[in-house]
Formats: sequence, C-alpha cells, structure tokens
Amino acid sequence: MQSSLPLTIDRAAGLPLHLQLAEQFRAAVLDGRLQAGHRLPSTRDLARELGVSRSVTQAAYDQLHAEGWIEGRTGAGTFVTDVVPLQPVVRRRPAHRPDADAKLLTLRPGIPYIAPTPDPGWRRAWREVSTQSPPRGYDDAAGLPALRAALADHVARVRGIACGPENVLVTNGTVHGLRLLLTVTRQPGDRIAIEDPGYLNAVVAARDHRLEIVDVPVDEDGLQVDALTEAAAVYVTPSHQYPLGGRLPVARRNELVRWARRTGSLLIEDDYDSEFRYDVAPLPALAQLDLERVVHLGTLSKTLSPALRLGWLVASEAMVDRLATFRADSGDWPGWPMQAAMLAMLRDGYLDQAVRRGRRMYADRRTHTCAVLSPYGQIVGQDAGLHITLLLPDDADDLRIAAAAREAGVVVAPLSEYRRTVPGPPGLVIGYATPSTSDLHRALTTLTEILSRR
Ligand SMILES: Cc1ncc(COP(=O)(O)O)c(C=O)c1O
Repeated sequence: MQSSLPLTIDRAAGLPLHLQLAEQFRAAVLDGRLQAGHRLPSTRDLARELGVSRSVTQAAYDQLHAEGWIEGRTGAGTFVTDVVPLQPVVRRRPAHRPDADAKLLTLRPGIPYIAPTPDPGWRRAWREVSTQSPPRGYDDAAGLPALRAALADHVARVRGIACGPENVLVTNGTVHGLRLLLTVTRQPGDRIAIEDPGYLNAVVAARDHRLEIVDVPVDEDGLQVDALTEAAAVYVTPSHQYPLGGRLPVARRNELVRWARRTGSLLIEDDYDSEFRYDVAPLPALAQLDLERVVHLGTLSKTLSPALRLGWLVASEAMVDRLATFRADSGDWPGWPMQAAMLAMLRDGYLDQAVRRGRRMYADRRTHTCAVLSPYGQIVGQDAGLHITLLLPDDADDLRIAAAAREAGVVVAPLSEYRRTVPGPPGLVIGYATPSTSDLHRALTTLTEILSRR
C-alpha cells in the first residue's frame, strides 16, 4: 500500500514492517526524495494510509528519531532533520536479494537439489556435533586438524592430489579461499588472467583487490593457454570451464604448468563441480601436477549446499602457513560447529553418498534438458556439472530472452552476463539441478515456448 511518504509495505519480504519503513525512509532522505524540513504525517495517519497498526509506524519513527533522521518540534509535529547525505555507496550490481527469486522457478546455474527433508546422514552429523562441547579456546586458524587430515585423504582419493593435512586449509567456500589468497599474495596493480567468459565472482574479487584483469579466451576445451600473456596469477576452471563447460586436455594442462613455472605465475584452480561427471571420470586435478605452482579450491556448495559456506584450499605447506598466519590475525575462518559437522560428513561417507545420489539424479535431468533444448541451438558443457550452456544464433538477444523467461516465471542466466571483452555467440546458461524434476520439466516447457517465439 502507498502512503503520502515514499514508503510501501511488503508483507512477503520477511523483514519486520517497522524496519522496512525505516530503511525506505533513510533511502528517500539520502537520495533527496525527502528533504530536510519536510513535515511527516502523524504515526496514526501514516498507519491508516499504509494499512498497518500504529505500533508499526510508532516503532519506525522511534528508530528514525533515535538515529537522528527526524525530530519532533513541540506543538508543530515531526520533521525530517537536516542530514547531510554521505556520498552514496556505489553498487556494482543490484544488492543480492535471494528472496526476490523465491517464487520463480530457477534454472540459474550452480545450486544443487536440496531435498525438503533432511536425510539420516545429515542428522547424524549434527547430532554428533551437539553432543560435544566446543574447544576451550581459539581453534587452529588453518582448520581443525582432524578435518584437514580427512580433507587431505578426500582430495587424494577423489582428485588425485598427493598431499597431507599440512597442505589443506578449511575455507568458507571457493570465493572465500580466492579472496584470502588474493589478499595475502597479491599487490594492487598485479595482473591476473581470468577466463572470458568466466566466473563473475572471481572477476569481482580481482577488481576488489585492484588487480589488472587480463581476459583470456576459452574454446570448447577450456582456457586457451597459448593466448596467455604476462600475468602474476591465472584463475582457471580446468575440470569444467565455467560457464562453457570445456575440460582442459592433458596437453594444455602440462603447457599451463610449464608456462607458470617459466613465468613464476600462480595458478588458481577452481574445482567447483568436478564431482559430477557423466561420461568418463574427471581428470585428476591440475594441482596434482605441481602443488608449488597451483592452488586448488574445492567446495561443498555443489555437492551439499552453498548455504553451508564450506570448502577447502590445497596448496604448498609454505602457502598454507602464510594464509593461516594471516587468518590467525584476522579471525576469519569457519566456526567450530561447521567444521565438526563437515568432518562427520566426510568420515561417515555422507558426502560420497550425496555425490553418488546427485550424479544419478542429475544424469537423467541433464539428458532431458539436452533433449528438450537441442532444437534451439548448440548445447555445450553437458558432460559434467550442474548446468549446460545453450549457444544461440548470433542474432539472438540472450538478455531479452532471459527477461522474457523471468516475466513468465523462470530464471535463466544469459551467457552475455559472463562475457567481458572476448566476443562470442549469445546463449543461455541453464542449471538443471535446483528444481524438483517436475518443476524442471515445467520450466523447460516455458523456456521452449519463449525460444520458439524468438
Ligand atoms: C565457477 C564457480 N566457482 C565456485 C563456485 C562456488 O563458490 P562458493 O564455494 O564460494 O560457494 C561457483 C558457484 O556458483 C561457481 O560457479
């Protein structure tokens, strides 16, 4: 409902109503829609206009009053104070609001299927955590020793990286590991090569660290190693190029490591979804070739849930020590309960079980997705992961198609969102893991209707 002030109420937003009002009020003052000296309606009138109880408007006014945005003048009413706006915060993208998409069917890539009821392995892990007292003091900043050992075994077994606990650091996921690495090892102005098209959060992390980004083209096999120019670091997704899906062949891997040895560059291997491979087993990780030159990043975001915010970084012992020393000072590492649960999930085979189950389920969905979409373009990247990419004819406008899909209730990612300077065809990046199977079928039907109208 609208009021005489630029305020609205969204009962579905999940934020208490008085906080919604206060937040919108501050924004309106900062961007000039509400000027100093403006007289506000009484709490009673505002409550009537908005269709809320007076306690809501009173709580909002109390909050704004306490913060100094409004003032009462005896006998005259309540007025906007003379707040000198700070320089507005410049946002790179609209603020992330996961709830905004909650009612839509999402085919955005990267999020696994989460069953509505937790299964026994999950419950067992948390029960086990709940029976233990937390440690007496601060933990090891690199991670719980037992978890580091379990992760070293895991990456040796699953990704072929010969390493020990001293090579492992527990993280809050890939992006956390990447940012830590950039903070500790890079200087502003350093050059970092990043795949184009590539993972946006890696680009944002590099920008935030004031690095110079070098856009490197990719083809159906992944990063074009022969196109690399001088760079202090390279971010690469060798097992399933994000988002086009190429698998970096052995010859290119060897060439990349040789190049890094020659130039002294650091290779950052983002191994985000290598667990899901539908043709042959994944190639061993790049880090297996040279742990002095490669830092390997793994995550639970694709196998269990991105909401866990857990992952691992595997590197030389010297690098892990350096990163852990920084973390000991910054206090920025995953909390004990999360790590203890992760340990239980690894030790009891819950993670392996989830991967096996996911692989079976996603294989069928992937086959269905490819069958439905193949008449509309060229499908790439279907051998692995949780998404495929549909390359569209050059005259297609993928942004417009994604907007039309959203209008029809389906979220897909346009490929041009992932492109920077290297030209290439338009397309859609389609995640098939997140919805239930029936929702996936419905979403694909909607999408094909839009693609047929193109
Ligand atoms: C290329 C890539 N790397 C990593 C991740 C996962 O990041 P995190 O472990 O920080 O959740 C994603 C998730 O979408 C991704 O697409």
